[in-house]
Amino acid sequence: MNSAPGAVSAKPQAAVNLSPLLALVDQEMALVEEFLTTNMIDENPFVEELLKQIFAAGGKRIRPLIVLLSSKATSKTEELGRLHIILGVLTELIHTASLVHDDVIDRASVRRGQETINKKYNERVAVLMGDLLFAQASICLARIMNPVIVGIYGQVLGDLCAGEIKQMRQQFVSTVDWDAYIGKSVSKTASLFSAGSHSGSILNGCPNDTIQQLKEYGLNLGICFQIADDLLDITGQSSETGKAVGSDLRNGLVTAPAMFVLERKDAHSDKLKKLIQTREVATDEGVAEALSIIRAQGGVEATIGLARQYGDKSLAALAELKPSPYKDALAALTDYVMIRTS
Ligand code: FPP
Ligand code: MG
Repeated sequence: MNSAPGAVSAKPQAAVNLSPLLALVDQEMALVEEFLTTNMIDENPFVEELLKQIFAAGGKRIRPLIVLLSSKATSKTEELGRLHIILGVLTELIHTASLVHDDVIDRASVRRGQETINKKYNERVAVLMGDLLFAQASICLARIMNPVIVGIYGQVLGDLCAGEIKQMRQQFVSTVDWDAYIGKSVSKTASLFSAGSHSGSILNGCPNDTIQQLKEYGLNLGICFQIADDLLDITGQSSETGKAVGSDLRNGLVTAPAMFVLERKDAHSDKLKKLIQTREVATDEGVAEALSIIRAQGGVEATIGLARQYGDKSLAALAELKPSPYKDALAALTDYVMIRTS
């Protein structure tokens, strides 16, 4: 796939509310939340304070939601056990740890509307706090006592690091390579979504076909999520996203909205290319100019179309799953991911 994968124009859609989806697993999510906010204790008051700060800052808890809904959708009794809860906790811990590290790499100052650990304290504390969360995730993984799931999440940790390295190697590079872009999005984001979407069905002893369908669902949902995340860097409101708008561009990260403009090879793409190659995008004026070119030249609409393609693939993967409110909620989650604003 060396050219843009057939982007379509955006259709206006009604916002999807996460609350009814969360309500389907409210008791289980409360247990996940309790673990994240109260069970994570450390004898050092400073470390404990940091842990509280990280988890009290909120977050949408989309990954544990995927774990719980897909586990319920494939459970014979609809009852989830302790291991499913730990799977939800583990998935959120890995996500949170990777964000703490990501903020060091991106030199980000704000996350979830709060000062990042690297900004508030320093990078060394942030790296070690991320490591501490990864260590907690390893303990959860051991508690699940399933070697297949250990292998899946071990692969995710490798993928996260590989994805970040791939991204780092592409900074301030204006060449359009869609395979590389999607591959990087799989590594840094979709790999964890996919682990979360199918590991519960492994615990439930489901047939291989079901496990594969849920793996495919999570993979495509994760790609869709990353594309939507890249779009929010261009179109989002920092009051809603809790992050600084345009920070990908400032860091020289060329994502789908810019790529759609760059591949047109006209005066606008030449200007955008120059802003990236000369690193002017890292300045206030440069990023403002790049954002206005991308917005005016159709980068936003084309990116919504691309996100929709992966969203549709994730919906198609659910087709064979037995009907249930949990299956419907997984489908609604795809709509939420495609049109989210935060
Ligand atoms: C956010 O991307 C970052 C990720 C999805 C993954 C980051 C992974 C690492 C830093 C490696 C983790 C390390 C280990 C040891 C496994 P983004 O910058 O596009 O999103 P943002 O806009 O929310 O910052
Ligand atoms: Mg980042």
